[in-house]
Amino acid sequence: MSEAKRLAAEKALQYVEDGMIVGVGTGSTVAYFIDALGRAPERIKGAVSSSEQSTAQLKKYGIEILDLNHTGELALYVDGADECNPARQLIKGGGGALTREKIIAEASQQFVCIVDPSKQVDVLGRFPLPVEVVPMARSLVAREILALTGGQPVFRMQSETQAFVTDNGNHILDIHHLNITDPMALEAAINQIPGVVCVGLFARRPADVVIVGGEPPQVLR
Ligand code: 5RP
Repeated sequence: MSEAKRLAAEKALQYVEDGMIVGVGTGSTVAYFIDALGRAPERIKGAVSSSEQSTAQLKKYGIEILDLNHTGELALYVDGADECNPARQLIKGGGGALTREKIIAEASQQFVCIVDPSKQVDVLGRFPLPVEVVPMARSLVAREILALTGGQPVFRMQSETQAFVTDNGNHILDIHHLNITDPMALEAAINQIPGVVCVGLFARRPADVVIVGGEPPQVLR
């Protein structure tokens, strides 16, 4: 699948215009996109990054990291996804960067999502849905999500003894066994639970364009 990821990432370069500030997501597919940007870093003015991981890779190529508070609205955001349905609604957060990713997606005029074909589904939910939570609310949120959805919340671990900690200092619950027939309603309902920082359902703000890597890449809009 890595070749398909690379092909999708290369295709996304077509959306990058000279002098742009580009919103940059997180993950292995985006890593190929950053490598592609890195071949001509002077083409863009800088990047707004969604994670420490992407920031480190962008800086390696000398690409300036800009603060979203100073850039205002962005013309373009490029990011991957864990699942994508035909309405271009997504599950994201496998890499744990969902909150900053959702912020940048919201702040962008065009969201180009780059995926390999394994990410395409008819109904979202086979991939466990990530929910970022304030650490003290973890159990409360898990109970409420179980009651709301019937899905099985699993506390994400970094190792056997260490919890996964997001770039924002929070924890992640991964909700298993969901069949998300109404993504907008579920996104809104989970957002209502006190202690939820962000849910990795991108339904209210879906991708505008999905590029599925292959020979040739498929562009869905
Ligand atoms: C990170 C994400 C990623 O976009 C998602 O996990 C896909 O990752 P990859 O490109 O490695 O398959 O949402 O929070």
